[in-house]
Amino acid sequence: MAEEAHYLPVLACPHCGQPFRPAPHGIICPSGHSFDRAREGYVNLLPGGRLPSSSTAGDTTESLQSRRRFLHAGWYQPIAQALQSALGTHSATLLDVGCGEGWYLSQANAEQKFGLDISKRAVQMASKFMPEAQFIVGTAHRLPVLNKSCDAVFTVFAPHSHSEYLRVLRPGGRWVTVTPGPQHLHEMRPKKDSSIEERERKRSEPPSEAHHAERVTFSLSLPNDAAHDLFSMTPLRWQTAADAAPVTSVTADVWVSWGPSL
Ligand SMILES: C[S@@+](CC[C@H](N)C(=O)[O-])C[C@H]1O[C@@H](n2cnc3c(N)ncnc32)[C@H](O)[C@@H]1O
Ligand SMILES: [Zn+2]
Repeated sequence: MAEEAHYLPVLACPHCGQPFRPAPHGIICPSGHSFDRAREGYVNLLPGGRLPSSSTAGDTTESLQSRRRFLHAGWYQPIAQALQSALGTHSATLLDVGCGEGWYLSQANAEQKFGLDISKRAVQMASKFMPEAQFIVGTAHRLPVLNKSCDAVFTVFAPHSHSEYLRVLRPGGRWVTVTPGPQHLHEMRPKKDSSIEERERKRSEPPSEAHHAERVTFSLSLPNDAAHDLFSMTPLRWQTAADAAPVTSVTADVWVSWGPSL
């Protein structure tokens, strides 16, 4: 479990934005908003504590376990490497927004690691896997994180807010995103008409705020079990297509984009 002294200078109360101090079972802000630390070590800083189940639909235990097996087998190692070079050699305080089960954060180099995800199940898995990091259940759109408290912040295939990145970064800090490129897993996607393809191509460009963007493309030749895991961790809308059977030869194509703090 992360030491409180380490994570207290970073976390902010989701109700009033103030810093926390330790409380008997967790943390408390000056206005008296208190949050318990879970057995696994994470804190739930979602205002209201939890979301309606519909908002985490698709994030099943099975798909999380598939993601864990697939990532931990190293198939996306080239993405983790490009992410690390974009982050720079070392950050003191690093935040992964939309961290999922924690693999990308485990691959990064930093003194203090923070991971945030809206899915409690994902955060539970991540906390058990990386007891040295501090995980938070919370939303990317309003990070429960103090202004100018992080040296680097990143997101891989998950929602993020550029204005929140700039708010939480210290001067001299850096943000990095990994987003799908136009050919990402195209072998697994259902065939579409050209207007949908055009819309998706636009969505597959790097974020407009990026100062630099590197395109990372590689081919994967997967054994059947890894292909099945990849299939089950990808968005459901792809799986439902009749012609989207699991394929074992796939293309990974991502943008690793980055920019400075304010
Ligand atoms: C495709 S997964 C990627 C997870 C991880 N970054 C990875 O690549 O293995 C997307 C993640 O975003 C999380 N997520 C969705 N909406 C979110 C939000 N508003 N705030 C924080 N996390 C969110 C989901 O729970 C899920 O873990
Ligand atoms: Zn408060």
